[in-house]
Parts: sequence; structure tokens; C-alpha cells
Amino acid sequence: MFKIILASLAVMMMSFVSSAEAKSIVIVYSRADENYNVGTITTGNTMKLAQIIAEKTASDLFEVKPAKEYPADYDSCIDVAKKEQNANARPAILEDKDISGYDTIYFGYPIWWGDIPMPLYTFVEAHDWTGKTVIPFCTHEGSGAGRTDRTLRAAMKGANVKTVIAVRGTTAQNDRAGSEKALAPLFR
Ligand SMILES: Cc1cc2nc3c(=O)[nH]c(=O)nc-3n(C[C@H](O)[C@H](O)[C@H](O)COP(=O)(O)O)c2cc1C
Repeated sequence: MFKIILASLAVMMMSFVSSAEAKSIVIVYSRADENYNVGTITTGNTMKLAQIIAEKTASDLFEVKPAKEYPADYDSCIDVAKKEQNANARPAILEDKDISGYDTIYFGYPIWWGDIPMPLYTFVEAHDWTGKTVIPFCTHEGSGAGRTDRTLRAAMKGANVKTVIAVRGTTAQNDRAGSEKALAPLFR
């Protein structure tokens, strides 16, 4: 009997410890398929960074997925994305995530026409960001973080939004050591 009580106590302690630790989450949108400079890929560039961050910070990971997938070929995708941006669209997403239990949120995205992809606005605007610490990271192919330092701060009202960490998509895709170096400030 005593052993059973001890075992139950141990299980309770373990679940307490894991929930106490699971205070950070990586939220990411990333597109696989054909992309600039990397050919056709099965894991998106930003997702590669998201996986490193989740692993090194023991964070949960949630992938934002648009209800309607973007075209697999690069040229068609950039056309669709541009039209959505011009229309200031809020494309539906497949699934939402309750972020109320997290105080640190790593927020990852590719730069699309200088900004975050529009389905991420759908996600961001569905949540209360008050009191959260947000650490944005992105991949790009030349424009750095674009205007996302500004647009994220405007959209995530009440959050402490840190400066975006911007990494080349080709580095994220092909160079794990280079990616870890770029992300190193997060792991200190
Ligand atoms: C629709 C679209 C728009 C893009 N716009 C930009 C841009 O404005 N600046 C830039 O440097 N790269 C741009 N890129 C390149 C992506 O930011 C880059 O390939 C990124 O690493 C893709 O990440 P992902 O695989 O996680 O989706 C664009 C790519 C796509 C598909």
C-alpha cells in the first residue's frame, strides 16, 4: 500500500515538474515544397530553426497551418501571397492553440514580401498577448527581418516583443552549425 502511495506521489511530482517547465512554446509557420535557393524541400527553412529552438529550450512546438495550402511551386506561391497581402486578408487556419499558459513565446516565420505571412495575423489576432515575452525569429533570402519588428509589435499588444533574429533560409535549411550560431543568443 505504502509503495502504491509513493508511486502515485512520484507520478504527481513528475507531472507537476513537467507542467512547471512547459512555460515556453515555439509557434511557427513554415512552408516546405519549392522555395527560393533551396529547391524542393520536405521541411521548411523556418521549421528547421523552430526544431532547434524547441529542442534546446525544452519548449513545446505548435505549427500554424493555413486551412488552404499554398501552391507547391514557388512562383504561384508568391503570387497568391502577394494578393493576400494586398487584400490585407486573414486566411483561415486549420487549428488554434491556447497560449494562455505560456509566458515565453518563440515566434517563427518566413519573410513574405517584407512581412509575416497573412495566416499568422489570423493566429496573432485571435490571442491576448498581454504580459507575454515574445522572441521572434525568421528566415529570409536577403531582406533580413523586413518590417516585422514593427508589424509584430503593433499586432501583439501588451507583449514585450524582442528584436527579431533573422537567418538566411539557405543557412537554416543546409547548415545546422550556422543556424545554431545565429540562434546562440537565445540559449545563453
Ligand atoms: C511568398 C514568398 C514571399 C517571399 N518574400 C520574401 C521577401 O520579401 N524577402 C526575402 O528576403 N525573402 C522572401 N522570400 C523567401 C523566404 O523568406 C525564404 O525562402 C524563407 O526561408 C522561407 O522559409 P520557409 O521554408 O520556412 O517557408 C519569400 C518567399 C515566398 C514563398
